[in-house]
Amino acid sequence: MANQSNAVQSVTITNLEAAFAGESMAHVKYRYFAKLAREAGAEDVAKVFEATAEQEILHAFGHIDLLYPKALLTPAKSLELAIEGETYEYTEMYPKFRHLAVEEGNAAAVAEFDEQIEESKVHAANFKRTLEIAAKRFAALAKVEERHANHYRATLENLQKQA
Ligand SMILES: [Fe+2]
Ligand SMILES: [Fe+2]
Repeated sequence: MANQSNAVQSVTITNLEAAFAGESMAHVKYRYFAKLAREAGAEDVAKVFEATAEQEILHAFGHIDLLYPKALLTPAKSLELAIEGETYEYTEMYPKFRHLAVEEGNAAAVAEFDEQIEESKVHAANFKRTLEIAAKRFAALAKVEERHANHYRATLENLQKQA
């Protein structure tokens, strides 16, 4: 999932995005190192990498929590962001990377990017389908929430009148 916003943003938000990317990368890297260490018979090393990888996820969660505040992130909004990210990957990012890999004659990278273009398409389609199926449920939930909110507002107004 990449942020494609072109608007000028605060340096702290930019830094949080970089920190989020770094911690996420550390997580994946340590899990990969753990896998290699285990294959090499170094189980103790694998365990240290795995334990640290788990902490890196928590660090990344701390950052993304500030980038995508929970209060704004409904399941529908999450799906929209995911569709946007996956679509960006297969329509812009990977095609561009593929083109440059062809120019450099890096056949392995071209194959990798081709695979990712297909994967991102599948992911985007899955998220779209999930959003379509869930949209009706979300709409029904929103109505219930609205009823609750109106009820609370009315109760609050009554209390304020009495006060
Ligand atoms: Fe960390
Ligand atoms: Fe994906």
